Amino acid sequence: MNVNNTDAVDKRPSDIKEEIARLKSEKDAVILAHYYVRGEIQEVADFIGDSLALARIATTLPNRMIVLCGVHFMGETAKILCPGKKVVVPDMNAGCSLADSCPADEFEKFIKEHPDHTVVSYVNTSAAVKALTDVVVTSSNARQIVDALPADEKIIFGPDRNLGSYINSVTGRDMVLWDGACHVHEQFSVEKILELKRQYPDAKVLVHPECKRPVVLLADKVGSTAALLDYAVNSGFNRFIVATESGILHEMCRRCPDKEFIPAPPADSTCGCNDCSYMKLNTLEKLRDALRDGKPEIFVDKETAAKAVKPIERMLEMSK
Ligand code: 13P
Ligand code: SF4
Repeated sequence: MNVNNTDAVDKRPSDIKEEIARLKSEKDAVILAHYYVRGEIQEVADFIGDSLALARIATTLPNRMIVLCGVHFMGETAKILCPGKKVVVPDMNAGCSLADSCPADEFEKFIKEHPDHTVVSYVNTSAAVKALTDVVVTSSNARQIVDALPADEKIIFGPDRNLGSYINSVTGRDMVLWDGACHVHEQFSVEKILELKRQYPDAKVLVHPECKRPVVLLADKVGSTAALLDYAVNSGFNRFIVATESGILHEMCRRCPDKEFIPAPPADSTCGCNDCSYMKLNTLEKLRDALRDGKPEIFVDKETAAKAVKPIERMLEMSK
């Protein structure tokens, strides 16, 4: 436990926000936040975005230090793309169940069992898995990148079986899928969404492609967090049932104050929304401490980073 947290307990959020602003300029730091982190962190961030946007932004920043408020693989991606910068995260325990469902040694065996296949990996993976990969994708660009590969190319897709099966269905490919999943997105249930649809028949259903296929089939719009936000902002509709992590509702409500967003609940709970416990490990206090202390810092060993950067850069190039 970080003992420095104890003196923050008594402080008001506005005091901590002031400290964060001061430390940011003292340390020449920039704060990047994913849409799933707590609203108060999104409010102090310099940039918020989906995983593709955060990777892209990281490559353009002049600052000495990046504080990545999200999960570990996002910090690793920023470090791999910006090896000369210090990359810190508020909580090193903010992992990802999807990335954890694909250990690099097992994935390597899987690749060896399919020797003539191109390896496409979702960005929600460790640096070691990316180092085994030909091209990385995010939920924003997976369809575009898979479509751009020659039609007869045999492909392994990992680690998300749901995103993989969605991409197979929209591209007509038959990619071999690694059997991994996200514990948050697998929680959404058809029954609960149909119940909400009965209550709000005019509501449009927004679904992240990490959800199971029966949930995806209920969607009016399937897409990454940024794509779902864009649809909410730019479509003429006023009410939405949102089947992705609940943090996105903060930016949806901020951008569309006159529209209504209803979080789709998980199957096994009476609570109204579905949270990623890893994303919620990011707090304002830990963010302040990370800025002040320059830790916990993300390190990626040189050999792994040298291999992992290639499929990430290929992704950025293929989805310009
Ligand atoms: P996005 O690519 O939409 O940011 O998704 C990241 C993620 O972790 C989804 O669970
Ligand atoms: Fe990982 Fe799922 Fe959390 Fe996204 S929502 S960071 S995929 S555990």
